[in-house]
Amino acid sequence: MKLSEIHYSNKFDDLNSQLKNFINQEKHVIFIDSKLSSIINLDPKFKIFEIEINESTKDLNTIQKIWKIMFSESLDRSSKIIGIGGGVLSDLVGFATSTFKRGANLSLVPSTFLGMVDAAHGGKTGFNNEFGKNQIGTFFIPEKIFICTEFLDSLSEIEMNNGIIESLKAGFLGDKEIIEMIYQDKLNNLEVIKKSIQVKYNILKNDLRESNERMFLNLGHTIGHLIEKDSNYSISHGQAVAIGMLKGFEISESKFNLNSSISDEFKSFLNKRSMKTEYSFNSNQSELKEIISNDKKVTSDVVKFVLIKNIQEPVLIDFSINHLLEVLTNA
Ligand SMILES: NC(=O)c1ccc[n+]([C@@H]2O[C@H](COP(=O)([O-])OP(=O)(O)OC[C@H]3O[C@@H](n4cnc5c(N)ncnc54)[C@H](O)[C@@H]3O)[C@@H](O)[C@H]2O)c1
Repeated sequence: MKLSEIHYSNKFDDLNSQLKNFINQEKHVIFIDSKLSSIINLDPKFKIFEIEINESTKDLNTIQKIWKIMFSESLDRSSKIIGIGGGVLSDLVGFATSTFKRGANLSLVPSTFLGMVDAAHGGKTGFNNEFGKNQIGTFFIPEKIFICTEFLDSLSEIEMNNGIIESLKAGFLGDKEIIEMIYQDKLNNLEVIKKSIQVKYNILKNDLRESNERMFLNLGHTIGHLIEKDSNYSISHGQAVAIGMLKGFEISESKFNLNSSISDEFKSFLNKRSMKTEYSFNSNQSELKEIISNDKKVTSDVVKFVLIKNIQEPVLIDFSINHLLEVLTNA
């Protein structure tokens, strides 16, 4: 399976040159998160369309707008369609491109840390509807991904944390040097980004459609999603996943004798970044059960749960939902 070709840069000027070379006067459109127009000056010769981005515009309505632009610009399958933005924009442009004329030519420029290390890679696209988040989507690998670290300069601390936690997750799954670099605050280091992507690509090359190893990437996410929903999304994704990973490490300590220094060091790191290490649920057990049953990774009453036996040794275990909820609510 062919994964994306990645181009790196540290400055917007270099990114502009890379895009210019790639577009090479061919038919193209660039969709950009409207908040980024004051952050980056793109070459005025590019065909640029701003899209208003937030989790509530991640819907079919915005997909329709994107398709409309593709048709009004008379794009065809070989036209270059480029999305510049965080995970919301890349999921939307990815979905619209994967379905436009049964799949056109997609490239992404992730503008958040989370996008650079995670959301732009691996081909998951989608949007939200009344049945939940990302319930409609496709697998569609972008041809090229352009990563420019100058985007990180304008990110809020919460957005940085969202990416840092995904990067740490990659470290726990497949590369302990990522953890060391992040704990030493080497965050703008392209190495952290490159290594995090490598962990994800090593997993994806065997299991793009998430039937087996790709589920490892859910480390911290089963509990994380539960926390996000229970808090009515007042807790950020990174914060929720961080608590989810910590809980997972605690379970791994009792199940596999995982050394407690791993969760101790992770807790100190979270404290240093003023992130929480605990969460008390508002919903009762049956409400939580209802939430967790809607998770895409749940079949009947069993959830596929990711633990680690050690750093770089993830395992997938079947956990009954009732048992998981007992652990979480200490019932
Ligand atoms: N497809 C995947 O594999 C995958 C993986 C993880 C997450 N996701 C999806 O990604 C989304 C979350 O992505 P995200 O965290 O990048 O969120 P996002 O795209 O909503 O961006 C977060 C916020 O930062 C702003 N922003 C973007 N770049 C900026 C910059 N350089 N400077 C300042 N502000 C900037 C955005 O306008 C937005 O307000 C979710 O919808 C999630 O479902 C997808």
